Amino acid sequence: MRGVVLAGGLGTRQLPLTKITNKHLLPIWDKPMVYYPIGTLVRAGIQDILLVTGGNNAGDFLRLLGNGKEFGLSHIDYVYQEGQGGIAEALGLARYYAEGQRMVVILGDNIIEDDITPFVQAFRRQERGARILLKEVDDPERFGVAELAGDRVVSIEEKPSAPKSRYAVTGIYMYDARVFEIISKLRPSGRGELEITDVNNAYIAAGEMQFDYLPGWWTDAGTFESLYRANRLVAEKALAAGRP
Ligand code: DAU
Repeated sequence: MRGVVLAGGLGTRQLPLTKITNKHLLPIWDKPMVYYPIGTLVRAGIQDILLVTGGNNAGDFLRLLGNGKEFGLSHIDYVYQEGQGGIAEALGLARYYAEGQRMVVILGDNIIEDDITPFVQAFRRQERGARILLKEVDDPERFGVAELAGDRVVSIEEKPSAPKSRYAVTGIYMYDARVFEIISKLRPSGRGELEITDVNNAYIAAGEMQFDYLPGWWTDAGTFESLYRANRLVAEKALAAGRP
C-alpha cells in the first residue's frame, strides 16, 4: 500500500499567513501542519509516501522532512504541482509512483484524532474500488457531503448550499489503481479544478465505493477558523496526555 500526501495549492484563503510560506508548513501546536497527515499514514503502517506540493516554497519541505527519518522512514518521494488545478489534478501526479498499487491519500491540511489502521485493513480486504471516511459535522456546506441510503453512499455533492446529510467526506481517500483512468477523464469544475468529489462519484456510479465513519475528532486547517480549531484540538489532546 502506497501513501500520498497532497500539500499543493496556494493557500489563498489564508493570506497573508501564506504569502511567504506554504499553508502546510504553518504551525499546529508544536509541529508544522504537514507532520500530522504524514504521521497518520505512518501510524497505519504505510512506509512508502509521496508528497505532492507546489508554490514558491516547495524546497522548504525537503529541508524540513528530508528522508523522513523523524517518522522512522527510509525515504520520502516528492513531486511538484504547478498552479492549483485541484485535488484530483494533484493526485494525478502520483500515477508514476503508484505502479499499479493501491493507495491511501490524505489531504495535507486534514488532522484527525484516530488511528486509521482498521479502515486501511478493511480496504486491504476489499476486492477493488475505493473507500472513504465520513464524519458528522455542524457545517456540512463547507465540504463534500455524502447522501446516504441505508448502508450505501449514493452520491457526494461538493459544498452544497442545501446539504442532503450532515456527513462530510473527510480528506482521507483509499483508491485502487483505476483512479488514474478516472482522473484522466475529468473536466474542470465551475471553480476551475479537477474535483476529488467527481472521482468519488465515478466509483459510486460503478458500485465500487465503501465507507466507514471516523469516530474521533477531525478537522481541516485551511481557513483561519479551522486553523485555530486544529491548534486547539491538538493542544488539548497533548496537554491532557501530559505532553508539552
Ligand atoms: O477537508 C475535506 C474537504 O477537502 C472535502 O470534504 C472536499 O470534498 C474537498 O474538495 C476538499 O475541500 P476544500 O475546498 O477544503 O479543499 P482545499 O482546496 O482547501 O484543498 C485541501 C488540500 O488539498 C490542500 O490542503 C492541499 C491539497 N490540494 C488542493 C488543491 C486545490 C492540492 O494538493 N492541490 C490543489 O490544487
